[in-house]
Amino acid sequence: MIDLRSDTVTKPTEQMRAAMLAAPVGDDVYAEDPTVNELEQRVAQLLGHEASLFCVSGSMCNMLGVRLLVEPGQEVVCDVQAHIARAEMGGHAAVHGVTMRTFPSSRGRLQVAEVAKIISPAAGPYLVSTAAVAIENTHNFGGGTIQPFEELTAVAELCREHSIGYHLDGARLWNAHISTGVALEAYGRLFDTVSVCFSKGLGAPVGSVLVSTAENIARARVLRKRLGGGWRQAGVLAAACLYAVDHHVQRLADDHAAARIFADAVAGHVPTAVAPNSVETNVVVIDTGTTPAAALSAALAERGVLVSALGPFMMRAVTHLDVTADDCELAGQLVGKLLAG
Ligand SMILES: Cc1ncc(COP(=O)(O)O)c(C=O)c1O
Repeated sequence: MIDLRSDTVTKPTEQMRAAMLAAPVGDDVYAEDPTVNELEQRVAQLLGHEASLFCVSGSMCNMLGVRLLVEPGQEVVCDVQAHIARAEMGGHAAVHGVTMRTFPSSRGRLQVAEVAKIISPAAGPYLVSTAAVAIENTHNFGGGTIQPFEELTAVAELCREHSIGYHLDGARLWNAHISTGVALEAYGRLFDTVSVCFSKGLGAPVGSVLVSTAENIARARVLRKRLGGGWRQAGVLAAACLYAVDHHVQRLADDHAAARIFADAVAGHVPTAVAPNSVETNVVVIDTGTTPAAALSAALAERGVLVSALGPFMMRAVTHLDVTADDCELAGQLVGKLLAG
């Protein structure tokens, strides 16, 4: 099987498993796990913040990060395709009482004008007050879209001007960093809270980190335990994340190249399905035209290629460290041939 459903399907490498086995551990609820502590210090420093908290998932880091900035009954503003809006099972509302309003976007790309149009900070007794803006970089459902640094900066200024918070869902911030060359710290410093994942393109089995001020992270530690997310000898997992940071960041460029190869192969058969130069990182969104995406992905699965049907006529393929450029070429040819009929 060539599995292009997501970059979350990767298995830990032998070297990563060895690092996990060798990790010194302790009880992280007592903040006594040396490997967790090392990961938290490393990632806070990388992103230019004071402190961080290791959590089980990107969803948990997003929930905690948004909650630090938004009180129950207030709103966070994000784009209509944001992971926090579509794929976190309404957790922000169901658990933390946070409401959400969304602005339109093309392929998830941020435009400060759209944000400025809908925020309502300190709205008084008549409207829900906007307490934070949340941005996704890269943007998953948008197709691995990289947010322009000037727009990110302009929204940071807008948030500061209105005294509202700014959260980054940086599950794939590593991909944006590798593609643009913008330092992780330059991205990180724009935001009040940042969530990054190790279980996507970096290939760790589990783990995300929330980054912010020391005061915010102390609050997040309480909120995490309240969610049942306090864990004990989590150093075995943190070791995989440290290994990923040391060995799997630079190679993301290979995933980006493989995504282009895949898109080129598809477009070679059906140019309307995807514009290869629209592929910015490791995600490729295919327009299946009049072919239902579910039927196409079932036909592909029978032939050994797994992709995700994201909409009635929209399919997604994601490259990662468990597929080669040749796999992607082969899969792209197959998708193109089936689409061309
Ligand atoms: C952009 C983005 N944010 C957050 C998450 C949530 O991560 P997790 O699956 O670890 O909860 C994902 C998962 O794919 C994602 O793509």
